[in-house]
Amino acid sequence: MTKIWSKELRILKQCVSNWKSQSAEIENIVKVVTNIVSPKPSSSLSDDIVGMHSPLHELEKLLLLLSDDDVRVRVVGICGMGGIGKSTLATILYGKISHQYDSSCFVDDVSRIYGDYGPLGVQKQLLCQAFMQENFSICNLSLANNLIQTRLCHRKVLLVLDNVDEGIQLEKLAIKRERLGRGSRLIIVSRDEHILREYGADEVFKVPLLNDENALQLFCRKAFKCNHVAKDYESLTDSALKYANGLPLAIKVLGSFLFGRDVSEWSSALIRLKEKPTKDIMDVLRISFDALDDMEKEIFLDIACFFPFKREEYVKEILRIRGFYPDIGIRILIDKSLITIFDGWEIVMHDLLRELGRSIVREKSPHEPRKWSRLWNQKDLSNVLRENKIAENLEAIVLREFCIYREELPVEALSQMSNLKLLIILSLTENLSFSGCLHFLSNELGYLEWESYPFTCLPSSFQPNKLVKLILDYSNIKELWKGIKVEE
Ligand SMILES: Nc1ncnc2c1ncn2[C@@H]1O[C@H](COP(=O)(O)OP(=O)(O)O)[C@@H](O)[C@H]1O
Ligand SMILES: [Mg+2]
Repeated sequence: MTKIWSKELRILKQCVSNWKSQSAEIENIVKVVTNIVSPKPSSSLSDDIVGMHSPLHELEKLLLLLSDDDVRVRVVGICGMGGIGKSTLATILYGKISHQYDSSCFVDDVSRIYGDYGPLGVQKQLLCQAFMQENFSICNLSLANNLIQTRLCHRKVLLVLDNVDEGIQLEKLAIKRERLGRGSRLIIVSRDEHILREYGADEVFKVPLLNDENALQLFCRKAFKCNHVAKDYESLTDSALKYANGLPLAIKVLGSFLFGRDVSEWSSALIRLKEKPTKDIMDVLRISFDALDDMEKEIFLDIACFFPFKREEYVKEILRIRGFYPDIGIRILIDKSLITIFDGWEIVMHDLLRELGRSIVREKSPHEPRKWSRLWNQKDLSNVLRENKIAENLEAIVLREFCIYREELPVEALSQMSNLKLLIILSLTENLSFSGCLHFLSNELGYLEWESYPFTCLPSSFQPNKLVKLILDYSNIKELWKGIKVEE
């Protein structure tokens, strides 16, 4: 209704623009009426939305909505990991400003529509919304391209393309900035920053995680249906918020799930989460993982299991030895919002993405760690070493966490890991000691670091042809091998 009014009023304004004596007056009437019929923006944030004012303001600044120079076309990207609130932010912004445009359109899932109906499906939706016609009969791409070109170029339009997950989608849609009328705004939402840069976005807005205060507020609304934590639930609330770590999707799902349950149910649900992350949340996060190439998947899993907070150069060195081309791989993970680089040097992966990676490693045989590709904690390593069975899937073991309980582990099972490429055992694990004889080590090993290595030499059968780095600080080693090794 509002849109129709605005449109009619603009047409009216155009018609009388030559009618100089009255045009100023009519312009005033147009302004007043437009203002009356326009939605009132700031009050439209629903009670369920928290902490949105600041991102909204930032985004408006990037869109140059507040500047006088409103004639150029501006393209702004919104990016961030799944569930962080990209679509929510774009929707709120759209509701707030769309009335200021001649035509507007919000395509809410480009990836799905493109997948189901191809570029024509998206273009149809775009044209139908922009021109408020139910059925735009366009039967082929060139007709659609033509329509977009001819009809949008004279209008000030607001276009939002949500959930673009491949660059080709934008290319095929043929929505070029030069085809949009003066003052138009194009907002592209994607988890992948590279797509946005490649398209030539003027700016990219990265949606931040919720701060502690807003996270608590959202959680309380969902879990207690009020604005404060209920008595006796304080520390459980802390654990839940620690788990969700500022991700609105996780806070909402978790809060809604816990609503109405008693303290013991909360406790057991939160403990269970550690072993079995919530499916609703993981399904959303997994979309980004599934879209990765094999090599990037391996890098993602290594970071999730071993290095969620480690120095970038250190991680890259290990990944290089693993044969994973980390320079490009890490860049791709950053672009896809799966990791960030903190302070220019530290790789940071959100806790829930780390959980996702670890659950992917466990998923095929959750109760048989010897079948996994990676081991990263004492409990599972202990299980595998004690079982002492063939573990041919195991590629990497990195034990750097403080070992909670004191135990002595037999090392024979290391001889059963013929594909082991990376082995790191650090002395934070001082509660851990090893017994038995090491007869064999995988010839695939490229990186071997074992602080306080307990034996006096490496196994004589070990052929270290692929070994690039060997670190045995504080070890009992006296000689590398018994006898002489001939390089092959
Ligand atoms: N600031 C916020 N306040 C309250 N809920 C939010 C906020 N941001 C996102 N959400 C909720 O989190 C969920 C995921 O948000 P969504 O915008 O779909 O994420 P994305 O598009 O980044 O995957 C949605 O249920 C949404 O309502
Ligand atoms: Mg979304």
